[in-house]
Amino acid sequence: MTLSRTVSAPLSRNKHLLNWVNKMAALTRPAAIHWVDGSEEENEFLLQQMVDSGTLTRLNQDLWPGCYYARSDKSDVARVEDRTYICSLSRDAAGPTNNWVNPYEMRRKLKSLFDGAMAGRTMYVLAYSMGPVGSPMSQIGVQLTDSPYAVVNMRLMARIGQRVFAEIDRDEKRVVPCMHTVGAPLAPGQKDAAWPCNQEKYIVHFPETREIWSYGSGYGGNALLGKKCFALRIASNIARDEGWMAEHMLILGVENPQGEKTYVAAAFPSACGKTNFAMLIPPAGYEGWKVWTVGDDIAWIKPDAEGRLRAINPEAGFFGVAPGTSAATNPNAMTALARNSIFTNVALTPEGGVWWEGMTDEPPAECTDWQGNHWTPAIAAATGAKAAHPNARFTAPASQCPTIDPAWEAPDGVPISAIIFGGRRATTMPLVYQAFNWSAGVYIGATMGSEMTAAAAGAIGKVRRDPMAMLPFCGYHMGDYFRHWIKMQRSLSETPRIFHVNWFRKDENGKFVWPGFSENMRVLEWIVGRAHGRASGRETPIGWVPGYDDLRWNGLDFPREKFEKLQEFDRSAWRNEVLGHEELFIELHDHLPKEMVYERELLICRL
Ligand code: GTP
Ligand code: SPV
Ligand code: MN
Repeated sequence: MTLSRTVSAPLSRNKHLLNWVNKMAALTRPAAIHWVDGSEEENEFLLQQMVDSGTLTRLNQDLWPGCYYARSDKSDVARVEDRTYICSLSRDAAGPTNNWVNPYEMRRKLKSLFDGAMAGRTMYVLAYSMGPVGSPMSQIGVQLTDSPYAVVNMRLMARIGQRVFAEIDRDEKRVVPCMHTVGAPLAPGQKDAAWPCNQEKYIVHFPETREIWSYGSGYGGNALLGKKCFALRIASNIARDEGWMAEHMLILGVENPQGEKTYVAAAFPSACGKTNFAMLIPPAGYEGWKVWTVGDDIAWIKPDAEGRLRAINPEAGFFGVAPGTSAATNPNAMTALARNSIFTNVALTPEGGVWWEGMTDEPPAECTDWQGNHWTPAIAAATGAKAAHPNARFTAPASQCPTIDPAWEAPDGVPISAIIFGGRRATTMPLVYQAFNWSAGVYIGATMGSEMTAAAAGAIGKVRRDPMAMLPFCGYHMGDYFRHWIKMQRSLSETPRIFHVNWFRKDENGKFVWPGFSENMRVLEWIVGRAHGRASGRETPIGWVPGYDDLRWNGLDFPREKFEKLQEFDRSAWRNEVLGHEELFIELHDHLPKEMVYERELLICRL
C-alpha cells in the first residue's frame, strides 16, 4: 500500500476524526493529504493550481475581479436523482419516494468503488459548518474529497477551515462524515482530465449513522455535500429526531415604512422562483418598503424557548441558476456575482468575461459555449445551440448581496411569521390564498404540485406532486415527514400563518396573467398583513383570499376583472385537483397522519 504524503499538518486533535481520515486514506490511497485551513493564501494556491491544470479559467480581472470559470464534462451537469439513495436500515423508513438499497449491500459496493479511487490525487480534509460557526442551530460536517473544485466552491457555500476544526476540538462535537471522490484515479504519469468524473455515479445517504458517500460526480449538489445531501437529506432526519425542521425554503424579511420587520419562509420547487423572490425589489408605489434577503434555498427552522419558530440559512453563498438572471430580472443577484464568484457551464466571451442566455438583450457577437465550441447568434439560430447549459450556475458569496439582511448570521436566527408554498400552475391555483389553520396548511404543502416543463414532451401541463418542494430532498418516509410537520404545532405557542401562491397562472393565449417578480410585493404585503391580523380577506372553500381592494395597486395598472380572473375559484377544477391528491396519498397511505385524511375529507365536503 502506498503511504499518503501529508502536505499540511492535521488541524484537529479529535481522535475520532484523525482515525477516520487515516482509515479513509488507507481505503482511497491518495498521493497526498491536505488539511484545508480556509485561508486566503490557500484559496489562491488552489485556484492557481486549477488554472494550471486547465480545470479553471481566470476571467478578465478588470471586468470580473476574483472570478473564475469552469466547464464540466458534458455528462456531469446536474443532480442525478435516479442515482441518489437513502440507505436506511429498513426500506420502509426511506419510503416509496426515495431510492433504497440495503445498507450492507450498499456499503460493500461503496467499499469497492472507493478502493484506490483517489490514487494520484490529493485528498482534501474539509471541515465545514452549516450555519454560522458556533451558532446553537449550526451543524458540522467534514468532507474528504479529491476535488479541489469542490473545495473552492464549498469555501463560498459554507463556513470552512481552521475555525471549524477549532469548534470540533472545543466541544468534541459530533460531525457528519462526508466521503467524496470524482472516481477517476490517476496512474503514474497519466494526464488528468480538465473535469475528472466517472460515468457511474452514486449519491448515498445513511440516515441512521448520518453519513454521506458521493461517487463519480464533481457537479453542484452531487459534490458540494453540505448543500442538499447534508442540509436537507441528512438534516431532515436529525430535525425529525430533535424536533425541528430542515426545509427547501428561502427566507426573507419585509420592512415597512414604519421600520417594522416581518420574516417569511417560502418553499417553491426547483426553477420556481426562490432566488428571485428572496431578492425582490419592491416596485413603484412601495416607497419606504424594503425586502431583506436571509437565504435563497435552504432554511433550518427551530422553536425557541418562547415557542416561536426561528430560522437560519445554513449556507453562506448562493448556487444560483445563471440563465435568465439579468440586471432587469434580478439586479441583486447580478451585484452578488460580480466579483469573487465561480461560474460553471456558462459561456466565455472573447474579452475573458461570461455570458448566458437572458443576461443581456443583445447576445455577444461570438463566444465559446459551455462545451468549448465556437458559438454565434447565427449558429444558435441555425442549430438551436445554447451558449450556456440550462443548469449553468454561479457560486457567489451571500455577503455580497446588496439586500443581505443585517441579521442573516444571527446565531439564533430570525422569527418566522409566515410560511408560503407555491408552484408552477397554469390553471386552478389562485394567485394567493391562506390556509384556515396549521393542519390545513400542512395539507396544502403536502399536496402542492408543479407543472412539468417543456422538457418532458407529452407530459406538458401534467402536475407532478412535490410535497413542500422536498420530493428529491426528504431523507425519510414522506408520510412520516407530514406527521412531523403536524406534530411541530405542539411545540409552538404561536404558529406562523400558512399561504399558497402561484405566479404562473396563464390566460387563454398561454400568457402569464400576473406580471410577477417585483410585483409579487403586492401579494407579500397582504401575507404580512394577514400574519399580523391586519389585512382582511374573504372565506372560500379552499381558504382565505384577498379581494381586489385588499391589495395595494398604486404604481400598477392591473384591472379589477383581471385580478378576479386570477383569483377565480373554479369548483369543478378543484374537484379534479383533489382527485389528483389521491395519487400521492395512495402511495403513502400506511404512513399518512390522520390529519391529512381528515383535511382531505373536509376539503371534499366544502367543494
Ligand atoms: P433552484 O436554484 O433550482 O432551487 O431554483 P429557484 O427556485 O431559486 O428559481 P429561480 O429564482 O432561479 O427562478 C427560476 C425561473 O423562474 C427563472 O427562469 C425566473 O425567470 C422565473 N421566475 C421567477 N420569478 C418569477 C415570477 O414572479 N414570474 C414569472 N413568470 N417567472 C418567474
Ligand atoms: C436545486 O436543484 O434545487 C439546487 C441546485 O438548488 S443543486 O445544489 O445542484 O442541488
Ligand atoms: Mn434548490
